[in-house]
Amino acid sequence: MPPLLRVEKVTKSFDGFVAVKDFDITVEPGQMACIIGPNGAGKSTTFNLITGHLKPTSGRVFFHDREITGMAPHDVCQMGMGRSFQRTNIFPRLTVFENVQVAVLSHAKQTLNFFTPAKRLLQEETYSLLEDVGLADEAQSVSGTLSYGFQKQLELGIALASDPELLLLDEPTAGMSPQETTNAIDLIGQIARDRGLTLLFTEHDMDVVFSIAEKITVLHQGQVLAVGLPDEVRRNPEVQRVYLGETE
Ligand SMILES: Nc1ncnc2c1ncn2[C@@H]1O[C@H](COP(=O)(O)OP(=O)(O)OP(=O)(O)O)[C@@H](O)[C@H]1O
Ligand SMILES: [Mg+2]
Repeated sequence: MPPLLRVEKVTKSFDGFVAVKDFDITVEPGQMACIIGPNGAGKSTTFNLITGHLKPTSGRVFFHDREITGMAPHDVCQMGMGRSFQRTNIFPRLTVFENVQVAVLSHAKQTLNFFTPAKRLLQEETYSLLEDVGLADEAQSVSGTLSYGFQKQLELGIALASDPELLLLDEPTAGMSPQETTNAIDLIGQIARDRGLTLLFTEHDMDVVFSIAEKITVLHQGQVLAVGLPDEVRRNPEVQRVYLGETE
């Protein structure tokens, strides 16, 4: 089976500053792949290059063996690639239900005056997504008042509304307490298994990375420093020198 995602020699410069250089990655269907690297290594930029939020200066991106380089984010999303952002991307004044409903509607390409049975269907879909991400009891809460952990769960619900095959999560546990982190990772793992999702995520917390990642790509100053299984990466002296050493 071909990889679900293949990135070939992608480079991005911002006014001459090279943020990502010759980045390669392949992600197989069903895999839980992780990109790690120090602050400013280029992780979020790489995500934006994959999802179409940024256009590469050079290099190519393939999804399902189809080239998607330079494609608009909503087209990439329609093809089955969902994402969450490092900073939460929710509408703070809408309720939890409304936030997910907007995403469901947008994926279904419905307008707000569609006929009732379809509306009901989408309501059920919205509730079912809220249940999946553990927010059914918070459906009517105003999103901006949620705890940080719940806001991240909401983001996950929004990302799942497009029914993605590949889900990119940019630091899904950033800013969470250790307990929130454990809960979030259990939830993400469970959802990925239930839905047969392929995951590509970035993460600061090394315990999280080594507990769930099946393949790790280490970025350093915009370039791939190492790729491998968690144990290989953990033992890699270069990685220990530039990265793991810094965080311990
Ligand atoms: N739009 C931009 N214009 C100019 N420079 C940028 C832009 N976006 C990112 N950069 C720079 O590119 C580098 C990589 O940034 P990026 O946000 O991808 O890092 P990161 O690995 O996600 O870091 P963090 O761990 O802090 O989230 C940084 O030096 C950043 O300042
Ligand atoms: Mg980042």
